Amino acid sequence: MNIVVVGLQWGDEGKGKIIDYLSKDADYIVRFQGGNNAGHTVEVNGKKFIFHLIPSGILREGKICVIGNGVVIDPQVLIREISSLHKEKVKVSPENLKISLLSHIIMPYHKDLDALREKRRLNKIGTTRRGIGPCYVDKFSRCGIRLADLVNPKLFKEKLKDNLREKNPLFRRVFKAKGFSFKRIYEQYLKFGKILAPYAEDVVELLNFARIKKKSILFEGAQGAFLDVDFGTYPFVTSSNTIASFSGVGAGFPLLKIDKVIGVAKAYTTRVGEGPFPVEEKGRGGFSLRERGGEFGATTGRPRRCGWLDLVSLKRAAQLNGVDSLAITKIDVLSSLKKIKVCFKYKYKGKSLTNFPATSQGWEKIKPVYREVKGWPSLKPNIGSFKELPSEARDYIKMIEDYLGKKVEYISVGSVREAIIKK
Ligand code: GDP
Ligand code: IMO
Ligand code: MG
Repeated sequence: MNIVVVGLQWGDEGKGKIIDYLSKDADYIVRFQGGNNAGHTVEVNGKKFIFHLIPSGILREGKICVIGNGVVIDPQVLIREISSLHKEKVKVSPENLKISLLSHIIMPYHKDLDALREKRRLNKIGTTRRGIGPCYVDKFSRCGIRLADLVNPKLFKEKLKDNLREKNPLFRRVFKAKGFSFKRIYEQYLKFGKILAPYAEDVVELLNFARIKKKSILFEGAQGAFLDVDFGTYPFVTSSNTIASFSGVGAGFPLLKIDKVIGVAKAYTTRVGEGPFPVEEKGRGGFSLRERGGEFGATTGRPRRCGWLDLVSLKRAAQLNGVDSLAITKIDVLSSLKKIKVCFKYKYKGKSLTNFPATSQGWEKIKPVYREVKGWPSLKPNIGSFKELPSEARDYIKMIEDYLGKKVEYISVGSVREAIIKK
């Protein structure tokens, strides 16, 4: 069975936790877009791991983790991630980690450009400043450097020279910033290339072989539906397509060979960075959700903006991704609240909207309309089945199912691996 797992909100829905759980039944776990702007948390045996590039299935023995062509790779971050896993005695080797030769490499100038552009922009996006956007820009303007180039010193030299010929004047003249030394980058990145060369792979061939052998492939999305470069709250989005349809493109996998899409959503909503967020609770409410849920970015540590569950946007995300079922996380975070608010429609210029607006124009004027539902008492430890949940929590899940017309298949009730219910 080939399953795609994607975020249905603005990222940080708990995809890492769900992937870790589902990867017990998978043979391959594949990242297909994004880069180290992602931070996917998995808590196992008292240890907390935050994955930025390596798929969240790496903790399970005997699985093959794959980084597809749709991912942009900061080699320094990846090498650091591999060695910190080694320190925790987690096996990461060319046997269980394969990186597409076609994946694009984040260069120092991408990171600097990300920060410089952000500084100049009137309407800041609040990017992670990891060079993600500029790297994707170079990919599409056809001057990107791919893993296949990085591991070939002659080709790498040529491409880096060509890039600096264009980038250095841009940095100096437009941004009044320092340029980059060819020698420094070349020497540093050649070392990265040497370390990563054994992991480089023809992922198309690898996954095609897996498919023919009827292996199970799990595709791990990063970010979330409303950070999608086309369908999100543009321009306050990331620079890749985050929705399930992209999984095939970002890994070189045939479209019709995906069997199932699972959408992950928090029981409430969060967002990091700038941009419209209709259900945001700016005052004490938001503060309290942030404290309860530990809502601080897994990548940048920034406090996440928090609000109640937004069913209108969730429905749009479920449609966009064609989800077959849902995983709802952080149900425990809402426990012991007397009342819980849920947004079931928007108000815009005096009119009710139950559909998500087509573009993000006028978003700031959208007002959420809430319904209050009953909260539930603290959850018992080690809940193993749906019927053990308090009835109000079961009603909450049912309300989501009814609104979206989709079944909730997994309910996460804590951050650790075991705290999950299969309904
Ligand atoms: P991702 O980017 O979608 O993988 O999500 P993040 O890892 O950035 O953020 C999710 C956070 O919520 C992490 O700190 C997880 O450990 C935590 N988490 C995931 N599921 C649950 C849950 O059901 N309950 C609680 N309390 N925490 C959870
Ligand atoms: P995971 O996979 C939450 C946000 C940034 C910023 C915008 C653009 O952990 O869910 P970028 O650096 O991508 O150009 O920043 O996107 N963003 C995320 N927010 N979770 C993420 O990943 C994110 N990746 C990017 O905060 O608003
Ligand atoms: Mg995250």
